[in-house]
Amino acid sequence: MIKDYFYNDRFYKNILKNKRDPRIKKEYKKLLHYKKMIKFVYQNKPLGTGDAVLKTRRFIKDKYFLMLLPDDLIINNNCSKSMIKVHKRFNSSVMASMNVNKKNVSRWGIYHLDKKLDKKNYLIKNVIEKPSIKKAPSNKAVIGRYILPSSIFLKLKKQKPGKGGEIHVTDAIQSLIDEKEKFVAHNFSGKYLDCGTMNGYINSTIEISKL
Ligand code: G1P
Repeated sequence: MIKDYFYNDRFYKNILKNKRDPRIKKEYKKLLHYKKMIKFVYQNKPLGTGDAVLKTRRFIKDKYFLMLLPDDLIINNNCSKSMIKVHKRFNSSVMASMNVNKKNVSRWGIYHLDKKLDKKNYLIKNVIEKPSIKKAPSNKAVIGRYILPSSIFLKLKKQKPGKGGEIHVTDAIQSLIDEKEKFVAHNFSGKYLDCGTMNGYINSTIEISKL
């Protein structure tokens, strides 16, 4: 479906022929631009986010890379852009973060903060994948935007399955923190749209249609 979205030229050309809407033309132009840059990797078995990321290894040439989980939508503010600023400022890895309701902590990676760096940025001491309410060190959740060091690939290669039998990026991040890699949690300013529950998903679709 994702490939179709980018490569279904005939579909877009047909629409453009019938509806001369400049907005569609603009979107199509964007697709033409971005599809040249996209590389696809395939995860044949659902072994976890960590396993999926590991598949991109040969495409990552820089010391750090940005990872976005597409089911976490953030609107009204470019979260990736602010995270890049944070990365440059603290010379660190970065994760997007948000306070969640204590009763929902088991849906997220939850971190324990070491110290507050400023109003929106915290140094992370440790992070646990989807803890129980009892085991959660706080109600501070990791949201799906990360600036990760490419050294994470070595950790992921050695990573044993964790929670739910999956290979988690969160566990590899913890191994890096243990080795003194600096991770900053960035409390982003945009509006978060939750797609992880049926109600959240429907609501997000409505909000997006209003943009
Ligand atoms: C993933 C991460 C989790 C993070 C979440 C954000 O979980 O493993 O740490 O809090 O994304 O959406 P998933 O939603 O893929 O189960």
